[in-house]
Amino acid sequence: MQTIVRLADYRPSDYLIDRVDLDVRLHPTETRITATLGLRPNPAGEPGAPLVLDGDELTLVAIALDGQPTGPGAIEVTPRSLTLHQPPQRPFVLEIETQVNPSTNTKLMGLYRSNGVYCTQCEADGFRRITYFLDRPDVMAVFTTRIEGSRDAAPVLLGNGNPVAQGEAGPGRHYAIWHDPHPKPAYLFALVGGRLGRVGSRFTTMEGRDVEIAVYVEPGKEGRADFALDAVARSMAWDERTFGRAYDLDVFNVVAVSDFNMGAMENKGLNIFNDKYVLASPETATDADYANIEAIIAHEYFHNWSGNRVTCRDWFQLCLKEGLTVFRDQEFSSDERSRPVHRIAEVRTLRARQFPEDAGPLAHPVRPQAYREINNFYTATVYEKGAEIVRMLRTLLGPETFRAGMDRYFTTCDGTAATVEDFLAAFAAESGRDLAAFSRWYAQAGTPTVAVSGTYDAAARTYTLTFRQSLPVVATEAAAGAAPQPLAIPIALGLVAPGGGPVAAASERVRDGVFVLDRAEDALVFTGLDAAPVPSLFRGFSAPVKVEHALTRDERLTLLAHDRDAFNRWQAAQSLAMEVLVVRARANAPLAEEAGTEGAGLAAALATFLDGEALADPAFAALVLTLPGEQEIAQAIGAEIDPDAIWRARQTLRVQLGRDLGPRLLALREALVEPEGAPFSPDAASAGRRALRNAALDLVTAADPQAGTALALGQVENAATMTDRLAALATLSLVPGAAREAALARFGETYRGEALVLDKWFALQAMIPEAGTLERVRGLMHHAAFSLGNPNRVRSLIASFSLNNPTQFHRPDGAGYDLTAEVVLALDGKNPQVAARLLTAFNTWRMVEGGRRLHAEAALRRVAQAPGLSPDVSDIVGRSLA
Ligand code: PHE
Ligand code: ZN
Repeated sequence: MQTIVRLADYRPSDYLIDRVDLDVRLHPTETRITATLGLRPNPAGEPGAPLVLDGDELTLVAIALDGQPTGPGAIEVTPRSLTLHQPPQRPFVLEIETQVNPSTNTKLMGLYRSNGVYCTQCEADGFRRITYFLDRPDVMAVFTTRIEGSRDAAPVLLGNGNPVAQGEAGPGRHYAIWHDPHPKPAYLFALVGGRLGRVGSRFTTMEGRDVEIAVYVEPGKEGRADFALDAVARSMAWDERTFGRAYDLDVFNVVAVSDFNMGAMENKGLNIFNDKYVLASPETATDADYANIEAIIAHEYFHNWSGNRVTCRDWFQLCLKEGLTVFRDQEFSSDERSRPVHRIAEVRTLRARQFPEDAGPLAHPVRPQAYREINNFYTATVYEKGAEIVRMLRTLLGPETFRAGMDRYFTTCDGTAATVEDFLAAFAAESGRDLAAFSRWYAQAGTPTVAVSGTYDAAARTYTLTFRQSLPVVATEAAAGAAPQPLAIPIALGLVAPGGGPVAAASERVRDGVFVLDRAEDALVFTGLDAAPVPSLFRGFSAPVKVEHALTRDERLTLLAHDRDAFNRWQAAQSLAMEVLVVRARANAPLAEEAGTEGAGLAAALATFLDGEALADPAFAALVLTLPGEQEIAQAIGAEIDPDAIWRARQTLRVQLGRDLGPRLLALREALVEPEGAPFSPDAASAGRRALRNAALDLVTAADPQAGTALALGQVENAATMTDRLAALATLSLVPGAAREAALARFGETYRGEALVLDKWFALQAMIPEAGTLERVRGLMHHAAFSLGNPNRVRSLIASFSLNNPTQFHRPDGAGYDLTAEVVLALDGKNPQVAARLLTAFNTWRMVEGGRRLHAEAALRRVAQAPGLSPDVSDIVGRSLA
């Protein structure tokens, strides 16, 4: 077991590196790197300490200190470190030559090749796989990189910063030199060399800088890069408008590669992307792909300020850049698209991914206090809950003070490696507020629950809302589950009259529609009310909490029909559905044609809703029609889960909605047909129309598989967009039979040369909620296009099964667990990061009923006992079983 790194043990580095000159000679198997490091003792470090540079799988070729060979015994070298025992106590220069093999680098960390393209990934600790270095984010240097490669294999040579020179380098070879004037930690280093197609444009910043922006993709796919290129320009403009942040180099490059462990990476001036988040055409990408591309392009670009100009002191501060940057990209998407619709999407992911994480064995605070393997902390908690904390800060302080705090943070921390304390200090200074209770959001794991009750006093004409917060006690490796302290929870709220319309009641403790609950229990009294109002609480999901609030069905219907907060209207429909679903699942009810009077009541309410406004906002209507997901229902039940019972409950309600709303849904499908020959647009309005048409198709098919199949088959054949084609195929995939199999086979054949489209096809089949899926997945693992070596393939086929197909992952015979464990072990030797992430599918194993639980535990134990586990997998399995 590797050792624990603790936040409490942070010490500044004993040495600093101010300047790095790299000379990289690219070669498929023997790439040579000469690093010239300008070092000096850190005044804040320990004088005379040995210099210990990090390394990983490196071969040392040569080393010199101030131009001289190092004497015998002066250094000690292992593949993991290089120690200089008595470094000079003045500035000095180390020149280190290493050799690496990019072609056998299957971990996709450090320098590797993807489809023949040389590329790098250095976050969190991949730079040490290129050269020996102080590979920690608080050591920041100015990098100059000379890249040399074969003209033929690597005509394009890209580095961080600005290009400064290029030329011949002997027969068949050439070089390029890149200089990045902004000091940066090594995790932001990148280079690319390969045959790539390019699309480019220019952007003039508000400071008057003329920036050349470009997106590089596989040659021949340039036509699919325009949307990403445009998203770069829109991101640049948005960050200027919204946060006053301008770009600071002369070039901004984005490169798409096919083999990538994550979504994308914000290397300074040279963002490297998983090609899934760059390439788009109407024929190959869905509306969801377009939305993701736009969001991730924005995310990586925004890191230029929140991450690069201000970076992290240590990896415990990861949320400082990730939570903040997710918040920023969410705001961008909300501004570019529909704010309420985007907010609902954000909350759905949070509830489906982060809430379970926070409730399971991998729970950790947004700022963890300890880790064994940092690569396992790129989690929904750090990213998504981290973003919610920033959003709460804005809700607490109001938009102007928030913006002023952001300005102060960027100005005071520019060029530094900062902490969460630095971030909060900027807002405390700007607002004059004490943020102590608020800061606990960073330190305490687990999802808080807020219980609410309301009482109306007719005689006094008052309405009292009582709030009580309770916080789970979460034991982590670092802390034995200390008693949690109350948080500052912003509750955006309003009162709605029983028949609709706002209520003009006041409480002086509500400011700008927000009440702050900052103790265990508190009550709010509204005066001057002639009737009991309906409270609309946590508007816009103003805090990442679970709300226990015994609203009646009629009150929820009032909110659905009349609340001015769109999020809470959607929430009201979700809560109505959730009640039905939980009751049926708990009772282990059989599959049926209808879900009782409550089901019928929901259908009636949705009918009224659709008649009134489906056409006015189709995207929102599609969300209102979408029932809570299986994971979310499981969370609501909490323990002794039977995933099959959950699926039956959900399917029954889908059937009922499809039946009761059928004629309306079919009419909506007709009303929303795109006019013949209308040009494709990926914009939110067009995407919303497609979303509602396809949600309608899905429900109609649930109720009438035969009629639905006919519609879906027609749509698969004639669709003008991948969105419509794939949605119809997904609907078909839920109806067993020959039509489905033929349609799947045809789709697989049509797109056999399109890896990213086949990924959708893999995923869709892996998510079929039927017992035959396990064998189907095993079969597809032998498909010519599948490879364990490519993370996108693994995520599409295997992770879709393990993370997004609850009934089959949790098969009662344990075979779903076995398949997952088997793949984790097969993958671990190649790519431990992806293996570890797949293993997180077991996160909910303690929540399932006893029989399944035993199988899950056995599978986990088998993984734990396998010899030679990576640190990544051994960390996840250890915490899962603890
Ligand atoms: N920093 C990247 C992002 O969120 C994520 C990432 C982490 C990518 C580690 C690769 C490796 O923008
Ligand atoms: Zn990020």
